[in-house]
Amino acid sequence: MSAYPKATDQGWRRRVRSRVLRWYDQNGRKLPWRETSDPYRIWISEIMLQQTTVAAVIPYFDRFLQAFPTVESLAAAEQEHVLRLWEGLGYYSRARNLHRAANVIVDENQGQFPESAELLRALPGIGPYTAGAIASFAFDEPAPILEANTLRLFSRLIELDSDPQATAGNKLLWKFAAWIVSRKRPADFNQAVMDIGSQICTPEDPDCMNCPLMASCKAYEAGRQAELPVRKEKVKFTDVTEVSIALQNQDRFLLRQRQESERWAGMWDFVRFEVAAEDVRTLSFPTKRKRRSSDARGQKSLFDGPVTLTPLPDTIRSELAQRTGLNLSECQPRTEIRHVVTRYKIRLLCLSCEVDSDGIGRHPELEWFDAAELADLPLSTSARRFADLLVSEGLNPV
Ligand code: ADE
Repeated sequence: MSAYPKATDQGWRRRVRSRVLRWYDQNGRKLPWRETSDPYRIWISEIMLQQTTVAAVIPYFDRFLQAFPTVESLAAAEQEHVLRLWEGLGYYSRARNLHRAANVIVDENQGQFPESAELLRALPGIGPYTAGAIASFAFDEPAPILEANTLRLFSRLIELDSDPQATAGNKLLWKFAAWIVSRKRPADFNQAVMDIGSQICTPEDPDCMNCPLMASCKAYEAGRQAELPVRKEKVKFTDVTEVSIALQNQDRFLLRQRQESERWAGMWDFVRFEVAAEDVRTLSFPTKRKRRSSDARGQKSLFDGPVTLTPLPDTIRSELAQRTGLNLSECQPRTEIRHVVTRYKIRLLCLSCEVDSDGIGRHPELEWFDAAELADLPLSTSARRFADLLVSEGLNPV
């Protein structure tokens, strides 16, 4: 069982701190958000880094700061512009909260960031980890942090025997993080433990031989580094079938803005809904093949053969009529996209239908856009894939 915390472990703590900081001085990664103490830039980076890798974040970080260099410029932006710059990064509530928090900082705090972890936590989207990260990196507060990498590192360091994601284990790790953080160099210490966690104390095959904390690590001492941290139960996935229907009228597409209560709120999508797998058996999709260098129009295409008109299954037909007022009998199956969202494995069947725009008018969240406008709208990642295919294959490749 865990040896921490003990008041008698002062020597152990001193050695951990100095080993961590010495390692960081020689091995710490140079990352764009580490070259500044501007709380705005640090905040943007830390929100982006939630559940997202450093490599994925860097280009988004650069683009975002170019578009919104200050908290005032972010607060003044349209939410759709913020979401467009977030497109592809996932967890879009992060972008909506960022925008909300920028407005709070500008309207209620004259553009000044709150300067302690406790005050930062009052902002939308800032939880204990992000508050600790901003407070330590920007204001040198010895605030604790705990995220995926440090959670694993600390669990092994103290040989935590309980699930670090469950209440008791998590509470203990936060307490440990607050106890261990360097009082003299909290920013470097917190950056360092994240690096050691992500580069050395990896989930599989931790590189203990090169770990600056090998001699302090209780799991290593007990030979238990491979079995810790205690794994929580694997997520059970649910299979879901959805259709995404691109309704097109000449060179325009009908899109729908996702509502507050939905996933991907504020983003645009084709008309999309869940269907029963047996209701779509009659639809057959073009098979994928190797990328041809170009087709007759000089455009790249991923699909063989013509896209054929197929009767629209009755259940889809009536759901579509309810959602748009359009009663359509045929569609073109275009492609099938498989993706995972939280605990759902989604099989997304992408269809297109030619329509007469006159049939629509009663649905305030539906709007027509041409291809150029589509490029500027924030779309879900799967909708963007479908939109790119529609634009690159031409509207009607039959
Ligand atoms: N993950 C979350 N925050 C990070 C940071 N500041 N540096 C590297 N990885 C991180």
